[in-house]
Amino acid sequence: MKVAVFAGDGIGLEVTREAVRVLQALDLPGLTLMEGDVGGVAYKKHGHPLPEATLETARAADAILFGAVGDFDCDNLERHLRPEQAILGLRKAMGFFANLRPATVFKGLEDLTSLRPEVARQIDLLIVRELNGDVYFGEKGIRTLPDGRRQGWDIMSYAEDEVARIAHVAFKAAQGRRGKLCSVDKANVLETFQLWRDVMIEVSREYPDVELSHMYVDNAAMQLVKNPGQFDVIVTGNMFGDILSDQASMCVGSIGLLASASLAEGTCGLYEPIHGSAPDIAGKGLANPMATILSAAMMLRHSFGREAEAARIEAAVAKALADGIKGGDLGGSHGTAEIGDAVLARL
Ligand code: IPM
Ligand code: MG
Repeated sequence: MKVAVFAGDGIGLEVTREAVRVLQALDLPGLTLMEGDVGGVAYKKHGHPLPEATLETARAADAILFGAVGDFDCDNLERHLRPEQAILGLRKAMGFFANLRPATVFKGLEDLTSLRPEVARQIDLLIVRELNGDVYFGEKGIRTLPDGRRQGWDIMSYAEDEVARIAHVAFKAAQGRRGKLCSVDKANVLETFQLWRDVMIEVSREYPDVELSHMYVDNAAMQLVKNPGQFDVIVTGNMFGDILSDQASMCVGSIGLLASASLAEGTCGLYEPIHGSAPDIAGKGLANPMATILSAAMMLRHSFGREAEAARIEAAVAKALADGIKGGDLGGSHGTAEIGDAVLARL
């Protein structure tokens, strides 16, 4: 169980520290931790947000626990040197194409979500986001037109095999849940997503036990706040998934609670909270580490087949929340280490 811990920038260090404490408390046989620099921290030390040495550590690992990247100091660097390239580069280099972002409302938090409690309580959904393609990884640039105006451009595309492989992940996930899959696209305007929809329908023939529906992304954004209980598994492209998963986080209470798994074809995966580096509260011990702790649970489940331990961590977090342990993101006053202690005590 070789785990690479890439803490990254801002609150990344604080939140991964707590997740590591939780992992260590489980006394897992063969758990080995390795470290590596990513993001702005890596740029400042090595001149690159994803140094070769970090990539080597990633390749040697069975799973990666990732904190966050993003640093205002680096926002004016050339794009390939910006902190975000660490996570984008890792996703691409390691082939992490399937991003799982579950969202449910923890007991006791119904009043803290941005929705009415009776609406929020219905949420139990999984967003399956494609992570290796779309407008994120197309050619891009800023060019000057013949008339002298500058023009920014980014190519959006999906090849059919890229759609099919994320479709299989999503259909299988739906089989393990309530058997409902909603594919979110923009087929009414974009050719990329007309092909997406066609391939989803083709792949669905292999999963007669899953009920497939389609929804345009604008409507999906609306339905997610109007009636989120209708969703079981949502499958969508890289950019729509980025946006809808942040939206889903507010529907369940806080972005400080949402974990994610990024999976490749094998068992290696990258596990990270969906929140960012929050430079405004970095180093103050204020960040809520629960999303990262829950990401460590997803790691045990998806990369190491340790369902029992994963469930133990999730239950400890749920118990801490039910007992009123809340970070500032939830209107509480518990600090990072205090929340870590509270989870450990309930483990
Ligand atoms: C996420 C983040 C990243 C993304 C950024 C940091 C590049 O927002 O994981 O959702 O856009 O994918
Ligand atoms: Mg995002």
